[in-house]
Amino acid sequence: MEYSQQVDCGLRPGAVLVLRGKTMNVLVIGSGAREHALCWKLRQSKRVRGLFCAPGNPGTSGLAKNVQIPVDDIEGLVAFAQERQIDLTIVGPELPLSLGVVDAFQARGLKIFGPSRAAAQLESSKAFAKEIMGAAKVRTARAEIFTDRRATEAYVAAQPLPLVMKADGLASGKGVVVCHSKEEVAEGLRHLFAVIKTDRVIVEEFLHGREASFIVATDGTRVVPLAASHDYKRLLDANQGPNTGGMGSVSPTPVLDEGMQEKALQDVIAPVLSEMRKRGTKFQGFLYAGLMVSPAGKISVLEFNARLGDPETQVIMRRMKGDLCDLLAALADPSGSAPLPLITWSEEAAVCVVLASAGYPESPVAGDEITGLELVEMVPGAIVFHAGTEIAGKSQSSRANVRQGSGEVTGQVVTNGGRVLSVTAVGGSVSSAAAQAYKVCDIIQFKGRQLRRDIGR
Ligand code: AMP
Ligand code: GLY
Repeated sequence: MEYSQQVDCGLRPGAVLVLRGKTMNVLVIGSGAREHALCWKLRQSKRVRGLFCAPGNPGTSGLAKNVQIPVDDIEGLVAFAQERQIDLTIVGPELPLSLGVVDAFQARGLKIFGPSRAAAQLESSKAFAKEIMGAAKVRTARAEIFTDRRATEAYVAAQPLPLVMKADGLASGKGVVVCHSKEEVAEGLRHLFAVIKTDRVIVEEFLHGREASFIVATDGTRVVPLAASHDYKRLLDANQGPNTGGMGSVSPTPVLDEGMQEKALQDVIAPVLSEMRKRGTKFQGFLYAGLMVSPAGKISVLEFNARLGDPETQVIMRRMKGDLCDLLAALADPSGSAPLPLITWSEEAAVCVVLASAGYPESPVAGDEITGLELVEMVPGAIVFHAGTEIAGKSQSSRANVRQGSGEVTGQVVTNGGRVLSVTAVGGSVSSAAAQAYKVCDIIQFKGRQLRRDIGR
């Protein structure tokens, strides 16, 4: 099927370019609010014919067809993409990347946006990321790597505090301990070696400053920066409590203005991509740099992720103007020269507040009824993206017909995971967007609901 679309070519006012191309079947892999936000944005593309989400959630079901294939069933995903003639696959979470989903798709000639298993090591191995940064001369915290608990203990005992210890490998946000006291060091060592049982620990100097998330979409050479944002990793207000996957996000962020973004592109993204190319592990996909900006304006890398952030994606998608499908299809094209569409960013600010279940992050409670979703539409600028939700048995009496992120959800929605919903809103400023988001947070209720009250405030 053909489509055509007029885009502002940006050369002079009113001048347009007519793009023609084939419509596409698109598959999104994942089941969080990040993937719901991607589906919401992709649905706005004229280019998208069929939209599928594996495995998706009740929110994505209103926009895409949910396909019950788990994210780690690589062969199942490949078989589905072949059978349904998927033209482009977009990978959300890190797990399938580290299992080689991109290699498996590309080996079958299927177009997929994401890094190969080797390139995804930028996230899956902190030791690998340090090695690349060393070779590319990218500023990052000084670090030593250990495989033995006793050697780690001896080393940290001689280091100034605070310091940071990290498990090598993927640990779902549980692999980093920031230690301000000897007691925290002892507890951190126990956590890393005895609880999550990592075989390699990285001990890092503590960096001072403000954090920001800078994510780019790249084919390994060409780079399209996404709007900068920052997230809120701790569970409680004023950055107290345990680390989580992220309790909220805002974009734009004062931490990275345009000048600093340019600096991040030149000092971090470009040299890392160049080093990856040099090693024969070109990085194609979303590259997420978690940055620390010192009071003097120096940028250091805290971590790389080989994917979009969650909840950063929710605010980025709310501000993105331009065709996401066109962008990713062009960057995933093996030719490396498909024309890139114009992507711009709304002047509006976007805020995301995560509603988490009771017990999160240690032991999230599931099965609690969520009320108020049908009222979200009444708050201007607000959209709620689903993550840990499910539809309770269809026989239940209290059923709701709820529009979610422009899609329809039928049935009683209940909690089914740690981060349950991402409440987003846009507004003329971060604080007005936050005010709208918090109006929605007060409408949506479930037992033991946890949220931070200081996002964007
Ligand atoms: P990571 O997963 O490596 O980004 O670490 C999770 C969080 O721990 C970061 O968002 C920071 O808040 C904190 N962190 C990690 N490394 C450092 C460091 N070297 N100095 C200060 N804080 C850090
Ligand atoms: N929000 C941090 C992450 O996605 O890793």
